[in-house]
Amino acid sequence: MSLRTRLTLLYTILLGSMLLLFGGLVYGLVSVIMVNNIDQSLQTSSDEIIALLKINRGEQFDARSISTYEPSENIYIQVWGSNHELQISRPTGWKVALDQNAWVGSETTFSTSTVNGLHLRVFTTPLVSMRGPAGILQVGVDLGLMDIIQGTLTKILIFLTISAMLITAWLTWLLTKRGLAPLTTITHIATQISNADDLARRIPINEFRNDEVGHLALAFNKTLERLETLFGSQRRFLADVSHELRTPLTVIKGNIGIIRKFGVDEESLAGIENEVDRLTRLVGDLLLLNQAESGVMSLDRMKVDLGSVLMDVMQQASVLAGKKIKVKLVNIDQAIVNGDPDRIKQVFLNLISNAIAYTPEKGTVEVNLCKEGSMALFSVKDNGAGISPEDLPHIFERFYRGDKSRTHTPTSGFGLGLSIAKWITEKHGGKIEVESQLKQGTTFRVYLPLVEE
Ligand SMILES: Nc1ncnc2c1ncn2[C@@H]1O[C@H](COP(=O)(O)OP(=O)(O)OP(=O)(O)O)[C@@H](O)[C@H]1O
Ligand SMILES: [Mg+2]
Repeated sequence: MSLRTRLTLLYTILLGSMLLLFGGLVYGLVSVIMVNNIDQSLQTSSDEIIALLKINRGEQFDARSISTYEPSENIYIQVWGSNHELQISRPTGWKVALDQNAWVGSETTFSTSTVNGLHLRVFTTPLVSMRGPAGILQVGVDLGLMDIIQGTLTKILIFLTISAMLITAWLTWLLTKRGLAPLTTITHIATQISNADDLARRIPINEFRNDEVGHLALAFNKTLERLETLFGSQRRFLADVSHELRTPLTVIKGNIGIIRKFGVDEESLAGIENEVDRLTRLVGDLLLLNQAESGVMSLDRMKVDLGSVLMDVMQQASVLAGKKIKVKLVNIDQAIVNGDPDRIKQVFLNLISNAIAYTPEKGTVEVNLCKEGSMALFSVKDNGAGISPEDLPHIFERFYRGDKSRTHTPTSGFGLGLSIAKWITEKHGGKIEVESQLKQGTTFRVYLPLVEE
């Protein structure tokens, strides 16, 4: 069932039941008031008759005693003796009891009966003479008028309810069509987007008022935007990976060609080995990033002494730096953090090897580990090429490499090191900062939360 049908039904049924309830109340109230009124006048008539009524010695009621009594219209009077014989009747022709069933007991009673096709309200009063029970007085009134009023009232109420329900159904049907029109538009556009695979399309927001539908359209647009960026970065990622894979493969193939032609030589073998190493590193980095992004990678959590991690890294750094660059350990504090020692080591090594790689011969790299408030601060400062202001905002992106480092040499990287370092740092609740000036040098700072003592 469509939302429109459901809303229409709901409103109509709701209104119908409200009107029925209301109508029922009105009907009941009117009936109670009318019956009360009738009963009161019956009782008054009965009292007046009893005041006039005379009984003779033979225990017979005297019809003449009430002959002067003028009952109001539609009133029937009957007096029955104690042996259930009719003694007085007005109009005189009536021989049938107004309500025989009410002749029991010594209480006055109100009852309703149907006699000779007439609907009657009857008030029964037992009569008592000095010698005891002497008979029964019944005063009845024709309920024809009340029946007509009740019948008309019922018809009016039913007619009103049905017409109100029909009008409501019709109006709701029309109004919901207007109200739900934006949803139809959204559905239409969404279908077009998925049919055309065009994530760049958006639902025009200004068409909708500032309501729930407008919010839905806004949320939908946000989802589209996010999907667009995700798909975009996915595409770029695939292009980057293919590019990075092709270069080493070309070099390997070239070297194999040389070996085939001139036989095995050390240089070609070294070239192949170099490229295979690069590929291995690339695949490792990619796996790590993929795990990081899909959230399946879990980090070890243990107390790590950053000082001893750094000592390890410094050993590898001096191998990397060789004789051409000086790597200085300026300061090393004892700093304990909670984390994964292998990953933290990777961060340190990535930053130091960058500094070594992007600093020309005879340059200096200064490494520093200290505490700053509740954070451990690891910094690497070089006096190398620096990073241009255009590159600076992007260096933490996957596969982003600065201008000068784009040309392929056997030692050049993939542009993954910093994005991995950033991811690991942030996973440890820390942050990574960079400060750089072209031709002056670069400083990277890594903050990691210290273990509270
Ligand atoms: N200390 C630095 N001095 C100058 N430029 C730097 C420095 N560190 C990083 N960069 C610039 O930032 C870019 C990104 O660095 P990142 O470590 O992510 O990639 P990479 O070193 O090129 O490759 P990978 O680390 O994956 O082997 C580098 O290409 C370089 O242009
Ligand atoms: Mg690097």
